[in-house]
Amino acid sequence: MESPFKAEILKGKVALITGGASGIGFEISTQLGKHGASVALMGRRKQVLHSAVSVLQSLAIPAVGFEGDVRKQEDAARVVESTFRHFGRIDILVNAAAGNFLVSAEDLSPNGFRTVLDIDSVGTFTMCHEALKYLKKGGEGRSNTSSGGAIINISATLHYTASWYQIHVSAAKAAVDATTRNLALEWGTDHDIRVNGIAPGPISDTPGMSKLAPEEISNKARDYMPLYKQGEKWDIAMAALFLASDAGKYINGDTLIVDGGLWLSRPRH
Ligand code: HXC
Repeated sequence: MESPFKAEILKGKVALITGGASGIGFEISTQLGKHGASVALMGRRKQVLHSAVSVLQSLAIPAVGFEGDVRKQEDAARVVESTFRHFGRIDILVNAAAGNFLVSAEDLSPNGFRTVLDIDSVGTFTMCHEALKYLKKGGEGRSNTSSGGAIINISATLHYTASWYQIHVSAAKAAVDATTRNLALEWGTDHDIRVNGIAPGPISDTPGMSKLAPEEISNKARDYMPLYKQGEKWDIAMAALFLASDAGKYINGDTLIVDGGLWLSRPRH
């Protein structure tokens, strides 16, 4: 689908996207790139990174991939610094790396719970922390820019109520939302950085959908969730463009729900 945004809205910007080589993260990388940004992708899988970068370069998007695990602070620091060295600045950080699996609370080990918090929550904070010196107003590489950068944290809606077999992800994304708000307050005030989130609903053709919502669940969902409709990765990428660009310049500390209204669904009486 054609973008409703002008192609140059992110011209001259540099974006670093964790989990940016696959799923929703890759579509965000692609759309930021198509709208003028240079993009650095961070991921754990060398081959996946390599092919994602090739696709972006074939679209004439300046792109580079760096291997790394957001759970490791040294990886986070190295990738952030490598991005700065490669492109000379960092304007946008998108935290899209996430881990997930379906398991009952009874069967989930504390280490399984911790693993997902480590990736989603601690990983998000670690990346923000390492990127601060480049994103903040007047920070490294920003001397010719009057404003600070923008952070977008990919969240979810499942913790607004409760979700079967996703206690670990619910806890992790609740922490991500709290991190979004608290950083928006502190870094918005002190460093002119806008920190926002996006909470996607069920998005077709993603690892999240294939791992978490087998076909039977999706079919049954329509009975008790009248607003159930799958979104596309494009929908999330457009929200990211909106928040990252000047269109979102007065938005800070918000987590934009992009789910077609699904979380409001109630069965019809
Ligand atoms: C129960 C599991 C498990 C499973 C792992 N564990 N998989 N427990 N069921 N299916 C437990 C392990 O037993 C272990 O605990 C602990 O978790 C760590 O497991 P490892 O295999 O050592 O971890 P690792 O290899 O680092 O893998 C991390 C991962 C992996 C989260 C398990 O699946 C991953 O990184 N996936 C990333 C890709 C992904 O899933 N993306 C989709 C995101 S979708 P013990 O106690 O045995 O040591 C998404 C959508 C959210 O986020 C919102 C949806 C609505």
